[in-house]
Amino acid sequence: MIPLMKTTFLNEEETRKALAEFILQSSRFSMGTQCSQFEKAFSKFQERDEAILVNSGGSANLALLQSLKNIGRLKDGDKIGFSALTWSTNVMPIIQLGLSPIPIDCDLRTLNVMSGNLEKTLESERLQAVFITNALGFAGDLEKIREICRQRGIILLEDNCESLGTELPSGKAGNFGLAATFSFFVAHHMSSIEGGMVCTDDPELSEMLRIVRANGWDRNLSPSQQAKWRKKFGIRSDFEAKYAFYDLGFNFRPTEITGFLGRYQLQFIEKNIAKREANYKFLASIARDNPNLVELDSAHLSRLSSFAFPVICKTPELKEKYCMRFSKAGVEIRPMIAGNLQRQPFFPKYVKRHFNLPGADFIHDCGFYFGNYPELSQAELKLLGNCLKKD
Ligand SMILES: Cc1ncc(COP(=O)(O)O)c(C=O)c1O
Repeated sequence: MIPLMKTTFLNEEETRKALAEFILQSSRFSMGTQCSQFEKAFSKFQERDEAILVNSGGSANLALLQSLKNIGRLKDGDKIGFSALTWSTNVMPIIQLGLSPIPIDCDLRTLNVMSGNLEKTLESERLQAVFITNALGFAGDLEKIREICRQRGIILLEDNCESLGTELPSGKAGNFGLAATFSFFVAHHMSSIEGGMVCTDDPELSEMLRIVRANGWDRNLSPSQQAKWRKKFGIRSDFEAKYAFYDLGFNFRPTEITGFLGRYQLQFIEKNIAKREANYKFLASIARDNPNLVELDSAHLSRLSSFAFPVICKTPELKEKYCMRFSKAGVEIRPMIAGNLQRQPFFPKYVKRHFNLPGADFIHDCGFYFGNYPELSQAELKLLGNCLKKD
């Protein structure tokens, strides 16, 4: 059996031992120095000024949109474009926060929203923000997308939960918009079991994210930031300030275990990405020669930090055939992320409009993926390669 993932952690045994030792030695488990040190290390890795750690990628998405509402950059009813091929908790926060989700179609050769897809949506929609998903280790032509958003005054946000480490010639995926979110759930590029991050260079946004993450209070702000909020609301004593709540928030705090694991896993990330990319290149070179499969295009990426190996067949019948072939060979497969989000059961309950999304429909009907991770052996890679060949 080749499962979607084999281990919880990179360097599993070593990490488990280090975690056990940390639990035995640590005197504190609620959010503290492990979390703040992981934030510092991650912001350095991602090359962003600020990183705010939360308890999941889904929480990161919700906290980001809530923060943008709190600081007045988004308001009730604003139209938010999102990639039609994404995960549930990319679009659910848009609905939960009273914003209006507008799906943008995806290109089946890159699996992502390309600038052409965005331009087409903009012909008929006035978007306040685009919350794009960099899907499955791939990304769209983010340079052009950034330029379109800049020209039209649209806020660009990236859900980079699946593309940690992917790079374009002008920078890392996750660094093209105002902010980006990340997930450290098991089976992502690195895992802290559960965990998520928001990165940004915007000081007003990062300050609000720290308020939103923890109940709406100011305890995790710098002394000067605290003084500003206390003055603004006439809070005079420390006694009062401890329980003053300044704006809408959640409890999305991570634990020190999240922080410890994040820091620990980060030391293995570069090697992991390199191995995933090498595996991807080997498998893609075989898939490319199979006329039954759509050839994927990553030429615009300078580094593909592969999340999984996507297979898009040319017809639904071929998909059935290849799904059967992989399953019979003992390879675990699954649908492409959550498919065309518009076709998920929850979506029509909240969004009454119907959108024409041929690219996302094609991926939904003809695609599936299997796991790609550093622990795949040569024999397993050979077996996967054989499954990708035309018979
Ligand atoms: C694109 C995308 N966004 C958000 C999430 C949510 O992350 P988490 O599972 O950490 O909540 C995921 C999870 O797989 C994802 O793939």
